[in-house]
Amino acid sequence: PANLPPLKTIVPFRIGSSVQALHLDDPALAALLRRQVNQLTPEWQMKMEYIVQPDGSFRFDAPDRIAAFAADNGMALLGHVLVWYAQAPEAFERLDENRVSFEQAYRNYILAVAGRYRGKVVGWDVVNEAVAEDGDGWRTSLWSKRLGDFEHIALAFRTAREADPGATLLLNDYNLEYMPRKRATFMKLAERLLASGAPLTGIGTQVHVAADIRPGEITTMMKDLASLGLPIHVSELDVSLVRADNKLLGRAELERRQARTYGEAAEAFMALPERQRFAFTLWGLRDKDSWLRGENASDASAPFDDASRPKAAAAALVEAF
Ligand code: XIL
Repeated sequence: PANLPPLKTIVPFRIGSSVQALHLDDPALAALLRRQVNQLTPEWQMKMEYIVQPDGSFRFDAPDRIAAFAADNGMALLGHVLVWYAQAPEAFERLDENRVSFEQAYRNYILAVAGRYRGKVVGWDVVNEAVAEDGDGWRTSLWSKRLGDFEHIALAFRTAREADPGATLLLNDYNLEYMPRKRATFMKLAERLLASGAPLTGIGTQVHVAADIRPGEITTMMKDLASLGLPIHVSELDVSLVRADNKLLGRAELERRQARTYGEAAEAFMALPERQRFAFTLWGLRDKDSWLRGENASDASAPFDDASRPKAAAAALVEAF
């Protein structure tokens, strides 16, 4: 599939990729990004792990650089993430038990970060991965312990809205296709947020899947999530070869299934009502830039190969779109 049209030219919604600041120094990757996508999600440099310094101060050089690249190239920017159970910097851990001052620091962080990128982002993943791993209830985190398990989530949405009146405010999670039980808990949380008046205005489904996923699972998830009535972001799509049961399937079969899975994700997204298609984001364009390659040198989870050539997966996206 050598002569495929650029993805961004064939879709009636935004199509994105994750990106790191160092990627922008790689001319081949920068060119591929410009050619294929019109939205960027910072892969980790808008997270607390990057922004919050050991002394509690904030730094913004890498995310500012990504924001400038997006603006210079007419691309939208998606903020990722404000609150994540997996990241609780020392500077927050150190704060004393006083609820009022902790809440103030939490709000201050959200106001500073979402405020800085106000008008520059189309949306924020406000709370990432709030549902427990097994789908049974919500996760416990520093945030839930100090501020309450539902309250810290609602507060994050209200505060993000205060900082940025225009951004779509998303609740983002993973394994929603693999685990109907987790999906049900996730949807209950979304409904409870809406019922409480919290400004939840979009649903993010990561779609980190493996090539042996059963056909139909992504489609079922998308229909189910759509019943909430909110815009949907396919926020981190990749299809691992290594995480699949590759003892039974040869590499060529895994690659066929990978392409089929990318195609199903695109088709399921296309089947949504137009007003519910927020954006469709690939978690890396080239195999070699993916976090999964970092975990396993033989993985190749993206639609483009190491030399920026479209794989069967890219062709399947083009066909489905
Ligand atoms: C991953 C990034 O790809 C890595 O570079 C980083 O070190 C850790 O996080 N779900 C998410 C993303 O919401 O933020 C994660 O990204 C992948 C899983």
